[in-house]
Amino acid sequence: MGACINNDIEKIILTEEQIQNRISEIAEDFKKIYGNEEMVLICILKGSVIFTADLSRMLGDNVRLEFMQVSSYGDGTQSSGNINIIKDLNTSIEGKHAIILEDIIDTGNTLKALKAELSNRNPKSLKLCAFLDKPSRRTADIDADYVGFEVEDNFLVGYGLDYSQKYRNLPYIAILKRDVYEK
Ligand code: PRP
Repeated sequence: MGACINNDIEKIILTEEQIQNRISEIAEDFKKIYGNEEMVLICILKGSVIFTADLSRMLGDNVRLEFMQVSSYGDGTQSSGNINIIKDLNTSIEGKHAIILEDIIDTGNTLKALKAELSNRNPKSLKLCAFLDKPSRRTADIDADYVGFEVEDNFLVGYGLDYSQKYRNLPYIAILKRDVYEK
């Protein structure tokens, strides 16, 4: 198991083992919190697809998976406070325990807008779970309810995070070499 270290990688900061261990802790927390009640995991495409796949498989039978894709009006590197729904949920979350799964919370703009949008749909509860949190980048007044790891402000790839749609399938989180994105 384990992929070769990609040549474009400067340094691995979270190994596959660290990631899987942390996700199993989050899964245990969710099992305690939600008990036998159904959870609707809302995977925000594309970045959280890997996190969603791993977390959901560590949970029991009371899990529904839903998918949503949004784009933020921004300058390409930074999100803004407005989101455009590219793909919406195709079932209602009314009266359900919904958990938004994100790969990363950076400025917080995306999660803030998503939370506002989804709380309008009257779920029984709505929580935000981010695999990674970059608190130093936050501009919006929002925090995730559950966080996998806090990270510093580096250009990170892997485990769902991309650069130009690449590297999402790396099983670890790594810092990308500067010359890759400054080419
Ligand atoms: C990333 C990430 C979050 C958002 C976080 O998505 O998945 O949705 O940016 O940034 P913010 O906290 O500054 O709003 P991106 O738009 O890159 O799409 P992707 O998941 O398809 O890569």
